[in-house]
Amino acid sequence: MASLATSPPDAFALAADLLVPVAQPPGEVRSEFWPAYDLSPPQAEFLALTELEALYGGAAGGGKSDALLRAAVQYAHIPGYKALLLRKTYPQLSGAGGLIDRSKLWLSEKATWSEQKKRWTFPSGAVLEFRHLHQQDSHYEFQSLEYDFIGFDELTHFTEDQYLYLFSRLRSQKNSPVPLRMRSASNPGGRGHSWVKRRFIDKKPKPDDPNDSAERAEKRVFIPARVADNPGLNVDEYLESLAQLDAQTLAQLRDGDWNARGSGSWVYEQTGIDAAIELGRMLDGNPPPPASGAISLGIDWGENTFALTVWPLERGGIYVTDERIFTSEEPAAATVRMLRMADNTGQRLEDARYDAAGIQSMRTFAAVARRSHPRLRTVKVPFGQFKVETIGYLRRLFERAGRGETTQIIAISPTGCPVLIEQLRGLRWKDPDAQTIEKGDDHGPDALIAGVAPIAKRMRRKK
Ligand SMILES: Nc1ncnc2c1ncn2[C@@H]1O[C@H](COP(=O)(O)OP(=O)(O)OP(=O)(O)O)[C@@H](O)[C@H]1O
Ligand SMILES: [Mg+2]
Repeated sequence: MASLATSPPDAFALAADLLVPVAQPPGEVRSEFWPAYDLSPPQAEFLALTELEALYGGAAGGGKSDALLRAAVQYAHIPGYKALLLRKTYPQLSGAGGLIDRSKLWLSEKATWSEQKKRWTFPSGAVLEFRHLHQQDSHYEFQSLEYDFIGFDELTHFTEDQYLYLFSRLRSQKNSPVPLRMRSASNPGGRGHSWVKRRFIDKKPKPDDPNDSAERAEKRVFIPARVADNPGLNVDEYLESLAQLDAQTLAQLRDGDWNARGSGSWVYEQTGIDAAIELGRMLDGNPPPPASGAISLGIDWGENTFALTVWPLERGGIYVTDERIFTSEEPAAATVRMLRMADNTGQRLEDARYDAAGIQSMRTFAAVARRSHPRLRTVKVPFGQFKVETIGYLRRLFERAGRGETTQIIAISPTGCPVLIEQLRGLRWKDPDAQTIEKGDDHGPDALIAGVAPIAKRMRRKK
């Protein structure tokens, strides 16, 4: 059993708390490596924080990246201090006006730059490194490295897995006077918008992590940024240029509104998702019998296996009641828990539908399921053939739910499927014309596609 007191982030937080007074009394933040201009009040607040985890997030141009770079060099006078700054892609890091450019303006006279290593070495021996994390799995490159400070610029461009992985790289030397800090800056609206909002703005625990508690979530600090906060910006001129944007994006960038979601490339529209959740909430209290008296499992096998229970509704459409996520779990063990989830609905489980790519795991599933559910069928869904069509069907269900229709709709239980909902909200088209979807946290939406593909196919036949 994982105990809260010994899991890494809290131990770090504790160490940070103990060490703070030695490092720098709050309220007196300054550094010889900072530019001379004054901090805005939220920047000062951000830089005085000694908590393990904080996000400075909100309006564009609020001075967030500036504050993040300051945070990175804040303890560069201390020997052995190591800091890491991350952006998603290399051009974002080293392009004109990027973090590296800015660091050169600040540090050229005060520290030594290595172009090859993308690293500043300070007279104390402290270092600041810049890296990008473009590949989905490139965080494993950091396996043997350790830092006192890790900073993510534009946090919503990263996945939650990447962010969480880097916690394991946050370690300080014994007796170090420097608090361990994980710091981020971000505008709302990137593809990681949902998890960042949940983590820092809503301060909710991660739904699929039993070790993440409400108390732990409460300790994450969020400092809101507004355009007007930045004394260095010609605010009127800047607002003028932002005014060209659509209303949602404007709300995100001008006001730092984390509830607004930019329009354009979302696979499933906000109103439809909200309506599906509302319907799910109603059905949760009193679920109707499924049309055929039988329910299905939708499964996406993988490193993070995702399973859902899908009820066909009597008047057309579906009700998604529960989800289970299995991280690096044996297919046999996952199967037992999936079956239990389905049995808990009190309905007969008719079949299990899966993305054809998971055929190996599905063999295990079938072997295990045969013992307790001898009549259960497995249905292979070739995604290459049916994914696009099924997304079209789901989009219609969401759209109809959003319009207040009562037939051919989708309902999703908000208590049963929090991760699915979050992932549906974050799903964007890479190319809407080619109907390809941006890679990201899409195991839940893929499990849903597997679960409804046979229905979508039947509907097409009917037409
Ligand atoms: N306290 C300050 N006083 C004067 N100028 C500042 C201050 N903070 C930041 N600036 C300047 O304002 C500009 C915008 O700041 P910065 O890039 O840090 O904002 P941001 O919130 O990261 O913007 P974006 O949302 O575009 O990423 C930069 O040129 C920066 O040097
Ligand atoms: Mg910035």
